[in-house]
Amino acid sequence: MDAQELREAYVDFFIARGHKQIRSASLIPENDPTVLFTTAGMHPLVPYLLGEKHPEGKRLCDFQKCIRTGDIDEVGDASHLTFFEMLGNWSLGDYFKKESIEFSFDLLQTVLKIPIDHLAVTAFAGEGDIPKDIETAELWKSHGFKDDQIFFYGRNDNWWGPAGQTGPCGPDTEIFYDDGRKKCGPNCGPSCHCGKYTEIWNNVFMQYFKDNDGKFTTLKQQNVDTGMGLERALRIVNGVETVYDTSLFTGIIKKLEELSGKKYSDDIKAFRIISDHLRAATFMLGDGVVPAKIGQGYILRRLIRRASRYMSNIGIEGINMQKISEVIVNEYSPAYSELEKNKDSIYTQITAEEEKFHKTLRKGLRRFDEMLSENVDSKILDGERVFQLYDTYGFPVELTQELAAEKNLTVDLNDFNSRFKEHQDKSRAGADQIFKGGLADNSEETTKLHTATHLLNAALRNIVDPNIRQKGSNITAERLRFDFNFDRKLTLEELKALENYVNDAIKADIPVVCKEMNHDEAKTSGAIGVFESKYGEIVKVYSIGDISSELCGGPHVTHTGELEGFKILKEESSAAGVRRIKAVIGKF
Ligand code: ALA
Repeated sequence: MDAQELREAYVDFFIARGHKQIRSASLIPENDPTVLFTTAGMHPLVPYLLGEKHPEGKRLCDFQKCIRTGDIDEVGDASHLTFFEMLGNWSLGDYFKKESIEFSFDLLQTVLKIPIDHLAVTAFAGEGDIPKDIETAELWKSHGFKDDQIFFYGRNDNWWGPAGQTGPCGPDTEIFYDDGRKKCGPNCGPSCHCGKYTEIWNNVFMQYFKDNDGKFTTLKQQNVDTGMGLERALRIVNGVETVYDTSLFTGIIKKLEELSGKKYSDDIKAFRIISDHLRAATFMLGDGVVPAKIGQGYILRRLIRRASRYMSNIGIEGINMQKISEVIVNEYSPAYSELEKNKDSIYTQITAEEEKFHKTLRKGLRRFDEMLSENVDSKILDGERVFQLYDTYGFPVELTQELAAEKNLTVDLNDFNSRFKEHQDKSRAGADQIFKGGLADNSEETTKLHTATHLLNAALRNIVDPNIRQKGSNITAERLRFDFNFDRKLTLEELKALENYVNDAIKADIPVVCKEMNHDEAKTSGAIGVFESKYGEIVKVYSIGDISSELCGGPHVTHTGELEGFKILKEESSAAGVRRIKAVIGKF
């Protein structure tokens, strides 16, 4: 089975059981301030897990591109990846534990064909007010699992979410592949890291909400949120040793061998790092991220620059990243059409960043060597120097850490971080903001700000330029942030006119109306939004009088008057050709 066959088999299995397939959402989370990237299939579904009605119904499935950046420096071993795909199925207040376990067991047997004695499962052991999940264990037993294949663990292992500080979460049951080797010790089980057990699927019984005070309340509905790592599942189905030995990486590794004249086995770590990082970078560029000093763009820059260094380690000199990116675009476009659609900008950006890094790398390395000789007495590279490498030579701090480690030095990260913070505050970029606050919720404030975003979008198109399109949106309980394509600073008069336009709409207390229609109807109705849905898919269109009509998942207020007032805090550049507005609502 290859990757595309597995994606299709998974989705078909759930479609046959009453699920609707949804598209993979962007890697850039919409309206979720706590995460830089989509890290799980559930992110785009948070409003629906909290009770908002999904236009496609209560049973959904998909394959979702994800990025997890916690492990970038671990990449290079057999299992860590920054980019991966998650196969998922959801019950939004529909079926619960019984059917979820039944579906999973059935798929493991009929699609993945893993013999039951090579499986192990875990369930929640109970903690605080939340009881031991005996029901889950009994359900697995009803499918033939023996006691010694079922393990109970506490909140550290058998609880998932919330993804940020607040949001939906719950106990889970995790499914592991057991490779059959002897246990490494008496306590060896799925939570052991000896390699006997590999997690392949996680079924979360999402029935709680964790609030800002750390309190758990019961959600309106009992949901199921599952996630299966495509790469790992494919590894097991194909009986290969690591995810890099699956067909997902064959083409990339072959290209690297061709460009370097070396074999994968000559420098496994470098080949893996380059493959992983450029796969992630290509997908990020495909979703509109551009290399930058902060936020998502900074992660992208780190990945491209780290890949570049490892390319030179295996002897690939010159500007070559596009050639690897082309392999990725070709192989993944059948599943992710945005890559083909955006390939020109992917190639332009990746090449530009590679060239930029080549230019500064040499200079930066020279400066780094000077620093070593200035620093002979110390085992620590001070924060000022690390910041200089970052600020003047564009060295991601992690690159400096790696270079320092090669010379048995550590870097003064605390000092670097405070300098970095100072610099951030000065430029008032506030990227660290992204780690604060709660997961996008359906609170009154975020709902109002969401409606304000639609009004602002309409105002920009009416007042400034009809060609303006949304490039990104991020809402916290305090403010909205809206990115759009435009290539100059807005004038004070324009900003005032935008505010007046939105405030007039608020004063007029216009009803906000939601209509469900199929994708083509929405398109011909003139609604704006991201029209990448599948043919025939049912979508929601939110209209505000004749001012605005947008394809959108909601939620929104019922009348614009609820917003009370609208004020723009600032307008600034976000990336080349992209401007950013931050605004607030309330009585002013
Ligand atoms: N959201 C769950 C996970 O990421 C399924 O593991």
